[in-house]
Amino acid sequence: MTIKKKPKVFSGIQPSHALHLGNYLGALKPWVESQNETDNVFCVVDLHSPTLLGDIDPKILAENSRSVAALYFAAGIDPEENIVFIQSHVPEHTEATWILSCATPLGWLNRMTQFKSKSQLVESVGTGLLTYPVLMAADILLYDTNRVPVGDDQRQHVELTRDIAMRFNNLFGDVFTIPEAVIPKLGARVMSFDEPETKMSKSIARSKAGHAVNLLDSEKQMKKTIMSAVTDSERETRFEHASKGVYNLLSLYQTLSGESKESIEAKFDGQGYGFLKKELLGIVIESLAPVQKRYAEIMDDRAELERILANGAQKAKERASVTLQRMKNATGVG
Ligand code: TYM
Repeated sequence: MTIKKKPKVFSGIQPSHALHLGNYLGALKPWVESQNETDNVFCVVDLHSPTLLGDIDPKILAENSRSVAALYFAAGIDPEENIVFIQSHVPEHTEATWILSCATPLGWLNRMTQFKSKSQLVESVGTGLLTYPVLMAADILLYDTNRVPVGDDQRQHVELTRDIAMRFNNLFGDVFTIPEAVIPKLGARVMSFDEPETKMSKSIARSKAGHAVNLLDSEKQMKKTIMSAVTDSERETRFEHASKGVYNLLSLYQTLSGESKESIEAKFDGQGYGFLKKELLGIVIESLAPVQKRYAEIMDDRAELERILANGAQKAKERASVTLQRMKNATGVG
């Protein structure tokens, strides 16, 4: 009997600011739900955080990295069965990035929509903001990844990773596995509560109350944000006809409750938006309360958290160094 190998998964979250409902529904929750079917590496991608200079306070970045790792475990990632580590603890990522960047045409990076929008936010654009998708490609390719579970906003970066891997393989031989993005059917693009045409974002939430529900918000903060979410002056709670703000609330309710669209429409029909918001608040609190409780317990045992992360970094390094050596052999470096 042949034992079928599990597909390899890699994904990560930047520890720039507090994680929000979008990060939870677009990434963390799907990771937890499929963790038993795959062979997983989950990374806290701290080297990505300084790409927007001034966006993150260097004094808190290292602590944020631990906090995000703790949230992975609090959300349900099993520390025994998965590799979890902090990106900067495995220097193979930066070395691989250099080799990959030499094989990445500049025009490909200039086309990235996230680069175009983020470069508007800062006065001086660092080179790292442009080459950031190459670091992301290195993250993914170092682990012979088959699947990359991400929210919709990362789709273009995973496509680029595929293009880089194929180009590298054409130039230097069969070095990389070609990965594919796995985007959840629900929750892949959570919009903000205050501007429902804008995606919920960590950097915006940092300076704008009412934008996002953060995973570690108090019930009072969650209530304030959800009850003041932008809606409209109608009473339209059918998905197809709803305004952007109401659609976002209905979709969040659908993703968190697992109920069908029909039963949700029947439940909220003719009820007014106050009721929809109250019910959504209830289900958000119910979903996040156990995560917050486990988070507090994990952060309380810092020695254990550090032990798990050191162990994760060691295992990650073992895998990453094999691929990096293949890259070096193929390119003649070393
Ligand atoms: P980041 O840190 O911005 O986001 C982490 C994950 O959350 C998803 N996400 C969302 N999903 C739904 N609705 C939203 N409003 C929302 N906002 C964010 C993102 O799609 C992502 O899955 N470059 C990546 C991090 C990264 C990475 C990697 C991911 C670095 N290397 C390798 C996968 C594989 C980023 O900045 O994600």
